[in-house]
This record gives sequence, C-alpha cells and structure tokens, in this order.
Amino acid sequence: MTTATTEALVLTDRINRIEPSATMAVVAEADKLRGQGIDVVDFGAGEPHFSTPQHIKDAAIAAIHGNFTKYTAVAGTAELRDAIVHRHATDFASDYRREEVIASVGGKHALFNAIQVLVGHSDEVILPVPYWVSFKDIVRYAGGNCVLLQSDESQGFRVTAAMVARLITPRTRVIILNSPSNPSGAVMSPEDMTEVMRLAHERGIWVLSDECYVYLNYTGKNFSVGSLRAYKERMVVLGSLSKTYAMTGWRLGYALAPAPVVSAMAKLQSQSTSNPTSIVQKAAVAALNGPQECVEQMRRAYIELRDHVVSGLRSIPGVTCVQPEGAFYAYPNVSSFFRGGKVKSASDVAGKLLREAHVATVPGEGFGTSDHIRVSYATSKSELDRGLERMRKFFAAL
Ligand SMILES: Cc1ncc(COP(=O)(O)O)c(C=O)c1O
Repeated sequence: MTTATTEALVLTDRINRIEPSATMAVVAEADKLRGQGIDVVDFGAGEPHFSTPQHIKDAAIAAIHGNFTKYTAVAGTAELRDAIVHRHATDFASDYRREEVIASVGGKHALFNAIQVLVGHSDEVILPVPYWVSFKDIVRYAGGNCVLLQSDESQGFRVTAAMVARLITPRTRVIILNSPSNPSGAVMSPEDMTEVMRLAHERGIWVLSDECYVYLNYTGKNFSVGSLRAYKERMVVLGSLSKTYAMTGWRLGYALAPAPVVSAMAKLQSQSTSNPTSIVQKAAVAALNGPQECVEQMRRAYIELRDHVVSGLRSIPGVTCVQPEGAFYAYPNVSSFFRGGKVKSASDVAGKLLREAHVATVPGEGFGTSDHIRVSYATSKSELDRGLERMRKFFAAL
C-alpha cells in the first residue's frame, strides 16, 4: 500500500481539503539550502526584519520575573482586552467594549476561529484575488466555498465596492477584505470599504476585514472599517501585533466583533489553545499602551524600501511591477519569460530562482495568480541590492 493510499484511508475529508501554506513551504526550502551552507537572499518570509522594540521585550522579561506564568482568561486578560480596545479607539475612532474583543495566538488564529464560527457548509465567501494564502484553506476547512473576485492588475489590484457587489448571491455569508493586501500591497479606498460595509449590512452579510497591515499604509489615508460604528453588527475586524510591532514570533492577534461572535470564538479557543501565552499578553499590553514612535519609524523605513525595490524590479527587462501602497510586498509580473520555454509558470520561476540564483520568493499560484512572484522587501537595502542583482542576471539568462 502506498503512503498516499494509507493517508486517504486514515485522514479525514476535512484535512484533505486543505494544502500546506505556500509561504511556509518556501521558508522551509530556503532553510534547507542554508543548512547546506548556501548563501540565500531571502525575499520569501513575510515578516519584519526589525527587532521587537526593547520596551516590549522588557515587559515580557518582567512578566517572567513577576511569575505571571499561569493560565489567564481564555480570551485574554482584562488588561490586554482593554488595551486593544483603547488602542483601536485612539487610532481609528472605534467604540468597542471588552466583551467585543478576543486575543488569540496570532492573527491567523483569530481568523481561523472567526471563520469556523461564521462559515457553514456550502456558504459562499467572497475573496479578492490575489489573496493571502491562508484565507482559502481556512474557508475550505470550515466547509465553505470561496467565490473569487478577480482584481485588475492595471488598476493596481485595487478592490472596489462595485466589484464586490457583482458577486453577492443569496448564499453569500462572508466578504473578506484585506487592505493593505498581502501579497499585492493594494489599499482599498475608505469610500469603497464604507460602501462594502453598507451593502453587507443591508443584506445581513458578514464582512471580515483583515487589518493586520493597517499601520503599514503608505497612502496617507489610514483606515479601519472599525470606525464605521453604524455597521458594527455585521463586522469582524482582525488585527495582529506581528507586523505592527515586529512581533511575528510572539504570536498575538485579535478580533473585534459583536459580543456573541467573540463568545463563540472564545468557546472554540477554550477547546483548543486556551489563552495566548501569559507572558506575551504582558508584552502586548506594553506594545499597545507604550510609545508608538517605533510604529511610525518602521512605516517610514518600509516606504523607502518599497521605493527602492520597485524601481529595482522595474529596471529588470521583462519584469513589470505595480506600485504597492501598503504592507511590505512587491508583486512583480514575470509572465513575459514564459514564452522563452525555460519556465512556464510563476512556480517554475520561483523554483529556479531559489535553486539557481539563491533568491527566495513566493510563487503567485499560492495567492491565486499565475503570472507573479511575491517579493518581501522587509529586509535591509543592501540585502535588497544583492537579491536584485542576482535576479537581474537570472532573468537576463532566461
Ligand atoms: C493578511 C494576513 N493576515 C493575517 C496574517 C497572520 O499574521 P499573524 O498570525 O502572525 O498575526 C498574515 C501573516 O502573514 C497576513 O499576511
């Protein structure tokens, strides 16, 4: 009996519906090459290159010394939930209460819980393309069907309310928004986000707004749907400390949602992970209540890196790249090389680029498009230059 046959016999239909995360796969392959002593330039990982700010680390150390090392309430301590609510109200004029927020083990965990609570068998979930890898699989795991919204590259992959409206059917249960977007960096206008919320509210459809990159918006119009108080009863806002405070490894995310949704998410969390790590919760309070200059400093640094990488990519003959308006990814189009015969897809390009030029990127297929690769520019300028030079030589030889 082959391994595949064995797996089909012993594993559930539920687990067979999903794929491993494409971004995690690239990280693993790049690590393997590094383990062989190969010098890999890493544009694959979706995480800040900055260190977690010192005052946040100090709070975690103090928590350990103070023996804050036991179980907490499943949804997070009152102190943390209040800090999340306060930060969001200060920055986005929202008006959530403690009962309307849950802290989870990263934004991905909050998203997973929210989808399990809101999406049932055969429910339709509108999902803009390109999408962050986990949305599709988490919806599938819940038994839902993704209805893909194709955005337009010539319009910077921007999603509009009119595009969303065209896909609404009587089976639509949830609309997922992700602005700024991973992987395209596209930012929806506040007007379009407001109109999507209005449409959804009118029809009793949930909007799940993944705002993990909300502080990395370079348009000058930083916006959260959480500010639209009139539409709160159909809205879930997902947030994360991972990117905002360079805390990817700490695992702290949250959801702001109506109290019954938060209670249901806490029920699920109580039967899986229980509370996020107590020590991390103390660090998160320090991040949210402490000085915010670090956030603005990182945001400004990303803008410089964005400009540097986009002009570098655009200078490579055959590569085109729309201007990302947020997050820390560029999403260049490499389809002109498919005609040469050496590569036929984005996966081919990313695979060859890693194996032959030792530059890690993520192929677009994982994000629902086949013409692009994702380049994370959350790294130093000198590392960007090294990678761009390797890419220039690689593409010239294709
Ligand atoms: C769009 C989006 N949402 C959520 C997450 C989850 O982040 P975390 O689980 O680290 O909070 C990520 C991480 O890459 C992301 O890109």
